[in-house]
Amino acid sequence: MPPTDPDARTLLALCAADAVEQDTPLLVRTPTMDYAVFRLADALYVTADLCTHGPGSLSEGYVEGCEVECPFHQGKFDFRTGLPTAPPCDTALRVWTPILIDGQLCIDPHEHRGEHQAG
Ligand code: FES
Repeated sequence: MPPTDPDARTLLALCAADAVEQDTPLLVRTPTMDYAVFRLADALYVTADLCTHGPGSLSEGYVEGCEVECPFHQGKFDFRTGLPTAPPCDTALRVWTPILIDGQLCIDPHEHRGEHQAG
């Protein structure tokens, strides 16, 4: 990403798109936020890594289809939307729109989507 590209200034590159495998979430740590990256067929999805119910790391969770099961209390989320799908989770995860640039998965870290939706 050239630094002179005004559209690229707000984007954050998380990882190479082909580094994300189906059914195996990828943890991406940054100084301000940890992200969990998921693949479902050809599509990539980005959520906050931290479960909204407690200290569970969703990148360590069990993936089945479009759901991830938190390893801490076994609550579940749809990682495409961030919405909780099984208790005790009742608050949506923050999610980001994936943007592919030259094979890199990027997001706008300031985007707010998902976490205020009702479960
Ligand atoms: S910490 Fe994730 S379900 Fe409780």
